[in-house]
Amino acid sequence: MKIVIPGGTGQVGAILERAFTAEGHQVVILTRRPRRPQDVAWDGVSLGDWAAELDGCDAVVNLAGRSVSCRYTEANLRAMMDSRVDSARVVGEAIAAAAAPPRVWLQMSTATVYAHRHDAANDEASGVIGGQEKGVPDYWAYSVRITRNWERAQEEADTPRTRKVALRAAMVMSPDRGGVFDVLSRMARLGLGGPVAGGGQYVSWIHDQDFVRAVQFLVDHEELSGPVNLAAPAPLPQRDFMRALRTSWRMPLGLPATRWMAEAGAFALRSDTELLLKSRRVVPGRLLDAGFSFTYETWPKAADELVRRARARVRTRTQRD
Ligand SMILES: NC(=O)c1ccc[n+]([C@@H]2O[C@H](COP(=O)([O-])OP(=O)(O)OC[C@H]3O[C@@H](n4cnc5c(N)ncnc54)[C@H](OP(=O)(O)O)[C@@H]3O)[C@@H](O)[C@H]2O)c1
Repeated sequence: MKIVIPGGTGQVGAILERAFTAEGHQVVILTRRPRRPQDVAWDGVSLGDWAAELDGCDAVVNLAGRSVSCRYTEANLRAMMDSRVDSARVVGEAIAAAAAPPRVWLQMSTATVYAHRHDAANDEASGVIGGQEKGVPDYWAYSVRITRNWERAQEEADTPRTRKVALRAAMVMSPDRGGVFDVLSRMARLGLGGPVAGGGQYVSWIHDQDFVRAVQFLVDHEELSGPVNLAAPAPLPQRDFMRALRTSWRMPLGLPATRWMAEAGAFALRSDTELLLKSRRVVPGRLLDAGFSFTYETWPKAADELVRRARARVRTRTQRD
C-alpha cells in the first residue's frame, strides 16, 4: 500500500512509519520541514503540490497538530485548535479533489474528548463527552472543543468515496526518546513517580504495538467508520499506574505530589497539569465488538515490556558511543 501520513514526523508518526515500512508499504510523510526522501512539504493550511500524493494512495493517517505538551496559554490553545482544524480541513479538500481518492482516511483525535470522571468508563456508545464537568478548570472545556472541531472538520469533508475514522487515542506508550513513556519513566526512576493530587484520576493508555495493530485493523475493516477509541481495555488510577511503572523499573520509592507541586513541576517543564490531573477513563468498545484483541491488556504487562525495550535502547546507544 501507499500510505500518506500528514504530521508524521512526531512520536506517533515514527511508530507508524517504522511499522508500515517494515511491512513493505510505501510511506510518505507530509511535513513543514522536509528532510528525508520520503518527506513532502506542506503547510497544513492550504492546498499545494503535496495534494498529488493523496491521489491514488491507499490510506491517509493525519496526525498533524501543534504539540499539546506546552503551557495552555491563550495563544498556545489557539494554535492547538487551528493547526488541528486547518490540517484536517485541507486533507479533506485534497481527498475531495483526488481523481482516485484513498479508500480510508484515519484522522487523529484524542480520548481527551470524554468527560473527566471516575465513576464509569467511557466507550463510544455510552461515553460522556466532556466540557460540562463541575469543579475543574474552565480551560479543560477548551481541549474538548478543540477535539470536537477537529472531528467535525473530518465529518464535514465531502469525500463520499473515502471511509472516515476518527482515532480517539489514549496516550500511546513507546520507549522512544521524548515520548510520554520516556518522560514518566524518568520521573519514576528519580523516585518522583508517586501519586499526584491523590492519584485517583484514571490513566488511559495503549501499548505502541497494539496501537499499530489497531490502526492496521481499522484500515482493513471496511465496516468501521466514525469515532473509535484506541485505548487498552484496562485504564487504571494514576497511583496504580505509577506504582506498576516503578515496579517495572525496580524503583521502590515514589514520592507523592500535591496539586500545587504538580502545578510547579508542570510550569518548570513548560507543560500543563491537565495532562496529569484529568481523569481519562476510556475503553475500546468498538474495537472489542469488532473482534480486535489486545496483546497488552493490562498495564503491568505492558510496562514490563516497554521497560525491557527502553533498557535495550539505552544499552545500544551506550555501545555505539
Ligand atoms: N502521543 C500520544 O500519545 C497521542 C495520544 C492521543 C492523541 N495524540 C495526537 O496525535 C497527533 C500526533 O501525536 P504526536 O505525539 O506524534 O505529536 P507530535 O510529536 O507533536 O507530532 C505532531 C506533528 O504535527 C506537525 N505539526 C505541529 N504543528 C503543526 C502546525 N501548526 N501545522 C501543521 N503541522 C503541525 C509536526 O510536524 P512538522 O513539524 O514536521 O510539520 C509534528 O511532528 C497529535 O495531534 C496529538 O495531539 C497523540
